[in-house]
Amino acid sequence: MKLLLLALLATFAFAAQSQYALGETIYKTTCISCHGIDGNSQNDMKLVVKPRILSKSILTETQAYKIIKYGAHAYGSHADIMPTFKYVYSDIQIKAVAHYVSKTFNSHRDKRVENLLKESAQLEEKDRQEMMKVGKKIFQRKCGKCHGVSGNGESDYVEQSKSNQNFIYPYNLQKILLSEKQIFLYAKFGGKFWGTAKNDMPSWKKRYNDIQLKSVAHYVATQIKKNNKQKK
Ligand code: HEC
Ligand code: HEC
Repeated sequence: MKLLLLALLATFAFAAQSQYALGETIYKTTCISCHGIDGNSQNDMKLVVKPRILSKSILTETQAYKIIKYGAHAYGSHADIMPTFKYVYSDIQIKAVAHYVSKTFNSHRDKRVENLLKESAQLEEKDRQEMMKVGKKIFQRKCGKCHGVSGNGESDYVEQSKSNQNFIYPYNLQKILLSEKQIFLYAKFGGKFWGTAKNDMPSWKKRYNDIQLKSVAHYVATQIKKNNKQKK
């Protein structure tokens, strides 16, 4: 019995090992040209949206798997530079590379996210009732400038950026993968903190307090993402 158990454990260990090794091989042949050997990205590339620094990503392993499989465009990016790999690799291979990326570059992610959430102000019941109103107001006033009032990522300001060669690419927030807590953290600290090359998505923490930002995140998660029929 004991032997059987040991044999089983050994099989699992082997499977985990080989998934990692498989992921590493795929990463090194396919991803380093953009994301770099250490996940830190080649930012001197002439791309309108630069590859993200994977060690700073807010995405969980499962979310990373989805982006790798279907491409960033399927989840709200207006650029099509992070391609879909579903025609290139099998599901097992994509899971393996997502696993490799998470484990190698971002193993501290959960702790980092957890700490940031712990440090943020907690909501009182009275705040909760106000949330939707406050969130909507801030969204329409500030976020809508780039993301559009419907959150679809289109606005006059974005159009202008194309004519003056500045090119900002706000996400279509109706399609994003991020949870309410992740949206809060992304808005609080801004894109650069989470691995983007440019500072197009600003950090809002000087302008709004945690309660206000949690309200916006709540509004985005429940109202903007609501009509999203995209595959999850
Ligand atoms: C042609 C360059 C290119 C290649 C090749 C590429 N990526 Fe990307 N990747 C990008 C860009 C650009 C983004 C940012 C997407 C955006 O915001 O539009 C990105 C984003 C990502 C993200 C999301 C990170 C986040 O925090 O949002 C993950 C995960 C990722 N890439 C993994 C991979 C893996 C794994 C491979 C190899 C199988 C790969 N990429 C190959 C350019 C590339
Ligand atoms: C000046 C333009 C601009 C404004 C204003 C702006 N954003 Fe963004 N936002 C962006 C851009 C560009 C991105 C694309 C990724 C990046 O560069 O960080 C983005 C990305 C995001 C993402 C990440 C989506 C994902 O799945 O990766 C969230 C969430 C977000 N914005 C929420 C907000 C909220 C909430 C506000 C208002 C408090 C806001 N944004 C205001 C430009 C803007």
